[in-house]
Amino acid sequence: MTRHFLRDDDLSPAEQREVLRLAAELKREPFSRRPLEGPRSAAVFFDKTSTRTRFSFAAGVAELGGNPIIVNPGEAQLGVKESISDTARVLSRMVSLIVWRTFAHSGLEEMAAHATVPVINSLSDDFHPCQILADLQTIAERKGELAGLTATYVGDAANNMGHSYLLGFATAGMHIRVAGPEGYHPRPDIVEDAVRIAGETGGSVSLFTDPAEAVADADAVITDTWVSMGQEGEKADRIAIFNPYRVTPELMAHAKDDAIFLHCLPAYREYEVAPEVIDGPQSVVWDEAENRTHAQKALMAWLLDRA
Ligand code: CP
Ligand code: NVA
Repeated sequence: MTRHFLRDDDLSPAEQREVLRLAAELKREPFSRRPLEGPRSAAVFFDKTSTRTRFSFAAGVAELGGNPIIVNPGEAQLGVKESISDTARVLSRMVSLIVWRTFAHSGLEEMAAHATVPVINSLSDDFHPCQILADLQTIAERKGELAGLTATYVGDAANNMGHSYLLGFATAGMHIRVAGPEGYHPRPDIVEDAVRIAGETGGSVSLFTDPAEAVADADAVITDTWVSMGQEGEKADRIAIFNPYRVTPELMAHAKDDAIFLHCLPAYREYEVAPEVIDGPQSVVWDEAENRTHAQKALMAWLLDRA
């Protein structure tokens, strides 16, 4: 059975640990694994813009010995002149991996249902699981053992990052707290899944509306943009709604003294995070960005091993 990575809980806790161990190995020895030698190709589709995901997948596929084929918005027949299922069947005859950044998560599910090569979600409206692997690698580098740590995500808890932190961090056995305004809490079915996973891993899941309460004694504080791709029309409303959730030095003071700050980037210093935080000594955002490459190379190698 071909394995895919569409949601964070597509990896079991043991599998997630294996991928993270491989990510650390590939960070030390970037050219030690060459599963795409040949070169074999990977299709990397973008329906939304990207800097980190584009470069980390292009570089990562090449470093694994392969050939990345980057497809920008509007360049392929996919979803316009040709169905997702037909695209999946065709590409499975041509490439060894399909990576897709898109809007509706259901499109990825359809692609995976018809592909015979691994499909990787490189961001959908509902999840951004590749980012979470990089975040876990970054936290482990600073804090060691992930299980038992407390991480608080502050801001739009109903977006792809909020959902992925719930599933991915619960899988790691962490205590994941999310804080957002009423109406911007995560989807109930995803909360339910995260609670079930946390029950198996020894982690926990808590939802807050008060950011200071949520951040109290946390080991890691995390935020994301208040206006995700596709929500640009709601910008003015969102900035007003999320303003109390800005990560400032005052909010960070509620966390542990040695707490770290993460942000998937791109970041808006005038909105969700103050410059003193993202550019200050607690910030690990540049390591986090670098780790996208290592974590995704590990994920690709792991999936290809099972393809
Ligand atoms: N964090 C992230 O996915 O960045 P890009 O949108 O630049 O790919
Ligand atoms: N929530 C953001 C993440 C960007 C990497 C978005 O979807 O735009």
